[in-house]
Amino acid sequence: MWQWAWVLLGYLLGSVSSAVIVCRLWGLPDPRTTGSRNPGATNVLRVGNKQAAAVTLLGDVLKGLIPVLLARWAGADQTVVAATGLAAFLGHLYPVFFGFQGGKGVATALGVLTGLHWGVGLLLAATWLAVARVSRISSLSALTAAALSPFYVYWLVGDVRTVAVVTVMAGLLFWRHRENIRRLLRGEEDRIRT
Ligand code: G3P
Repeated sequence: MWQWAWVLLGYLLGSVSSAVIVCRLWGLPDPRTTGSRNPGATNVLRVGNKQAAAVTLLGDVLKGLIPVLLARWAGADQTVVAATGLAAFLGHLYPVFFGFQGGKGVATALGVLTGLHWGVGLLLAATWLAVARVSRISSLSALTAAALSPFYVYWLVGDVRTVAVVTVMAGLLFWRHRENIRRLLRGEEDRIRT
């Protein structure tokens, strides 16, 4: 029963918005009110700089990775480990510390999935980079990686409940990208400028 404390820890850690904190520290505009209004690394790069974006990315990955690894190392069963990852992801989308106005979950999902199996994280990062290299569109890269994530998890983790949880995460990620998807369909999505 105590194992479910990992789920609570996951949600609380996921609720810490790296983008908002980094932008405050760097003296940058609030990412929730400028650019795409998304508190994520892509928007911090857009309204700020590469260094701030890299720290945001790292923070968002770690808050997904750490609770999942801790739950695994503590010997929690696979369902609790997967639920801990989902909770961290939901914390990023609906953060209790930031009025439940969160981000789209890409970096946190990467952290969660890397915690579930490092090979899945590697495949997702490679997918994101390959699509970004060709398209230079962050959202398209994330959507492609998210669509493939249940297959990667099925292949490397194999546990059906974990695949179900990851499929829910991918569905939520698509839902949070609905404005990006509309822009992609209109050919108006912003490209990564470095
Ligand atoms: O990580 C979020 C990314 O997929 C899209 O971000 O700011 O372009 O909406 P943004």
